[in-house]
Amino acid sequence: MTFGMRHLAVLALLISAAPLFAQEAGSPSANLAVTPPMGWNSWNKFGCNVSEEMIRQMGDAMVKSGMKDAGYQYVVIDDCWQVARDKDGNIVADPQRFPSGIKALADYIHSLGLKFGIYSDAGSKTCAGRPAGLGHEYQDALKYAAWGVDYLKYDWCNTTTQDAKASYANIRHALDAAGRPIVLSICEWGTAKPWLWGKEVGGNLWRTTGDIQDTWEGKKKWPDGSCCGLGMLNILDMQEGLASYAGPGHWNDPDMLEVGNGGMSDTEYRSHFSLWALLAAPLIAGNDLRNMSPEIHDILTNKEVIAVNQDALGREGERVARDGDADIWAKQLKDGGRAVILLNRGASEMNIAVTWEQIGYPDHVSAAVRDLWQHKDLGKFTGKFGATVPSHGVVIVRVMP
Ligand code: GLA
Repeated sequence: MTFGMRHLAVLALLISAAPLFAQEAGSPSANLAVTPPMGWNSWNKFGCNVSEEMIRQMGDAMVKSGMKDAGYQYVVIDDCWQVARDKDGNIVADPQRFPSGIKALADYIHSLGLKFGIYSDAGSKTCAGRPAGLGHEYQDALKYAAWGVDYLKYDWCNTTTQDAKASYANIRHALDAAGRPIVLSICEWGTAKPWLWGKEVGGNLWRTTGDIQDTWEGKKKWPDGSCCGLGMLNILDMQEGLASYAGPGHWNDPDMLEVGNGGMSDTEYRSHFSLWALLAAPLIAGNDLRNMSPEIHDILTNKEVIAVNQDALGREGERVARDGDADIWAKQLKDGGRAVILLNRGASEMNIAVTWEQIGYPDHVSAAVRDLWQHKDLGKFTGKFGATVPSHGVVIVRVMP
């Protein structure tokens, strides 16, 4: 091999290695999801009952309700929009439910100043048994790009012996080759520990657990008898130890919000939302935005809690103490402050106190404390802060020395 040839060989090697680092500068997916994605997804409330009319209405409601102003961006159709492949292998949307086609729907969502997301699966069929992506990755990615898709949730049903990391790297390569910036939401349920490789393959978020159910705590069988959806607290507890894997562009996803779907009390939904915000989790609402009670609206649009989630430092919060039913969670913020949640998991009201030492400040420091649900400065505190927390409730504060 001549010197020149060796140079060429090295160049070829570099080029072939490049797609592995999908989010590097210059690739279409660089700089996506620098803060946790915010949006809405059809699955938690509507399941397979999706249509273009409903999705349009949800986009309208996102604007009208003030959710867009609060930072929500992506409108995502989950499973069941697709029914077949045509003779050339192109994915076909349900013509009854999406008579105008997906491109027209994406255009409409874009006309509202929002972004558009869609769902597929790395295996041979989606979880609802619809045609999925295996073997069609590049063809589908081109179609998504032509339609104007901005976000792809990619599920993991019917993948038999597929390797998770390789499968998700493959779809990321395909999306990047199509040339459009598309957020990649890895929905692998945590089985192959996607936090260890999700960033490397260009995933912007990855599910850490099985599916959430609209319940405070416990494991419930699905209507078909299979096991099991996880209660909100069960999922929360499974986030321990994962914080260091999250950061700008790549987030742990403890599954979408159930706020407003009816299985929990408003107090419990306030806890769910506060905890997901502190976990730097994607805030993907899953309720009917056309019909929200004022309480649910105020939860989903609490800008002070959302600011904790969207803080530019991009740290995921962690549990710093647990004593029986009293949990304390804290998240470091860019300005040097901390967001702190006092969580009461128990059946009766209790006092919970956080010490400055638990959140990384010296005890003698005096710090300003602001309550993010009361929207009220509570004054300056030295060494610790305590509050009365209702059963299944939280107090979430910002602490600033
Ligand atoms: C899986 C996913 C859910 C949802 C359904 C759709 O269960 O984890 O979030 O997308 O499939 O069938």
